[in-house]
Amino acid sequence: MVSSVPTDSVHTTHSGATDDYFKALYQRDVVLQVDQLTQSFDQGGSQKVILKDVSLKIYEREFVCVIGPSGCGKSTLGRIVAGLDAYPSGEVIVDKEKVKGPSASRGMVFQGYTLFPWKTVKENVMFGPIMGGRSKSSAERSAREWLDVVGLTKYENHYPHQLSGGMKQRVAIARALVNEPKVLIMDEPFGALDPYTRQKMQKHLLDLWRNIDITIVFITHDMDEAVLLSDRIVVLKANPGEVQEIIEVPLARPRSPDIVTDSHFLQLKARINSIVHNPQPVIDPALTDMPDVPRMTPLDKHKSVT
Ligand SMILES: Nc1ncnc2c1ncn2[C@@H]1O[C@H](COP(=O)(O)OP(=O)(O)OP(=O)(O)O)[C@@H](O)[C@H]1O
Ligand SMILES: [Mg+2]
Repeated sequence: MVSSVPTDSVHTTHSGATDDYFKALYQRDVVLQVDQLTQSFDQGGSQKVILKDVSLKIYEREFVCVIGPSGCGKSTLGRIVAGLDAYPSGEVIVDKEKVKGPSASRGMVFQGYTLFPWKTVKENVMFGPIMGGRSKSSAERSAREWLDVVGLTKYENHYPHQLSGGMKQRVAIARALVNEPKVLIMDEPFGALDPYTRQKMQKHLLDLWRNIDITIVFITHDMDEAVLLSDRIVVLKANPGEVQEIIEVPLARPRSPDIVTDSHFLQLKARINSIVHNPQPVIDPALTDMPDVPRMTPLDKHKSVT
């Protein structure tokens, strides 16, 4: 249910009052706790450690971004928190319950469009409530409410292939939020969008977050996006994926995407950049081994090629 959050308790601007903002944040309940989480996968016949001793505490109504080099285990972490993957050691607790599988307390939005293509927009959003045992009419009511929130009421009878990428992601967000999760995990949700749509979606997500009691864990490669959105940024390093640093973002809220040219923003981004790139991240081994591409087309086929 959409509820108006008292802005003074959560989203007051805090330029010059940073310590107070974070002091208050750390006094809220812990919604997601990850303790000594380790994950390994069989790669080429041997076990490779992907995440090692990852520990985190994320607080009620916090917005946390996770960044780190490709292959460091960001999606692996997101999938474990969502309950989509088992984990061999450590503990993941959401809303005081150990994560043992998917649950309505955790919503997930992926980069790839994951809507059911054979269902309409409204039916996609109704799916979760119906699976949770709600009646069709009650699920329909909630679906309409959330489609209204994401501005897609007019498209409720459209099919996914009739929507733009940004609209599909708004449906995906509505589909996750209709279950009223405590934590929304978003894995590069805007990665496939053009820059203009991406900016609009960032602003929309911030507006949603300000008005819903929800904690967001947002995985991204994009430093601007991480600084714009976050209360704190978790920097993972690669091989194995470990928490390198957790950085507070002391920028006033509400924020708009225009903030990316602000001098405080740029200073903070430069600092985070230096943390992320120092030490130099070990990149995905598959990237270090890029083959030389042999010429596939005979040179004389196209006269203009030399
Ligand atoms: N089910 C799996 N089986 C085997 N290896 C896996 C599996 N899932 C992930 N991996 C490996 O774990 C490592 C981390 O993958 P992950 O997708 O979590 O990285 P990432 O940080 O999200 O990368 P990117 O930024 O490119 O999305 C990679 O080396 C990947 O190949
Ligand atoms: Mg990933």
